[in-house]
Amino acid sequence: MVHFDIVTVFPDIIENYCNTSIIGRARKAEKVNISVHDLRSWTADKHRTVDDRVFGGGAGMLLKVAPLYKAIQALSEKSVAKGLTPRVVATVASGELFNQHKAELMASSTDVNYILLCGHYEGFDARVYEWVHEELTIGPYILTGGELPALIVIDSVTRLIPGVLGNSFSAQEETTFMPDQDGIAVLGEHPQFTSPAVFNFVDNNGTEQTRVVPEVLRSGNHKKIAEENQKQRSKSRLAL
Ligand SMILES: C[S@@+](CC[C@H](N)C(=O)[O-])C[C@H]1O[C@@H](n2cnc3c(N)ncnc32)[C@H](O)[C@@H]1O
Repeated sequence: MVHFDIVTVFPDIIENYCNTSIIGRARKAEKVNISVHDLRSWTADKHRTVDDRVFGGGAGMLLKVAPLYKAIQALSEKSVAKGLTPRVVATVASGELFNQHKAELMASSTDVNYILLCGHYEGFDARVYEWVHEELTIGPYILTGGELPALIVIDSVTRLIPGVLGNSFSAQEETTFMPDQDGIAVLGEHPQFTSPAVFNFVDNNGTEQTRVVPEVLRSGNHKKIAEENQKQRSKSRLAL
């Protein structure tokens, strides 16, 4: 099983997503262990304060070091007690880029407990990084919090766990990403169609139009279908 502990100020965001559809079923089937924790449960004051102003000035609030430290300590100890290696991963806009290769590594690391820290406001008190093993970004843009990045990690990892997607899953046929010196070479998935085989509509000029699913895909000839699908895969590049 793959193990995640998520530390967030907004546990409902994580719980709602992770109780839905494929991830929800994977959780119920115990293919993945996702424990969601409210950072406020590691506060000691009456207002359960998790943030404060930045020393030296600057806009916005920062997540305080003490609750984060306590969360990391408690969840790391719990991991070790379960025989798992704790790995603290902070969601950070300037971190290392998360990609499919990392998702594959995480999906096969069943002896690790990933402790994902979701930042908010202006991020974390810098002293927290002393206890962080890895800083991950999901891309070159700034979000309001680390909840979406954490969910992206959980989602992309969980769907790779054997048995989560069932028989319909074929890794070879999915879009693949091959990083090289200049960027990422992308081999797209082939176009796919479902019923109806013939779709009629009237376009904006009032002309009747028809779109038909390619004959070969309806032929039942699996060899020809596989060849056609391979031929139709798109090639593109993502520049870094
Ligand atoms: C408003 S952001 C803070 C941005 C920070 N002041 C900076 O300049 O990098 C709040 C939190 O959202 C998360 N976050 C925002 N963009 C992200 C990204 N592209 N990848 C991963 N996490 C991100 C981080 O957890 C961050 O602490």
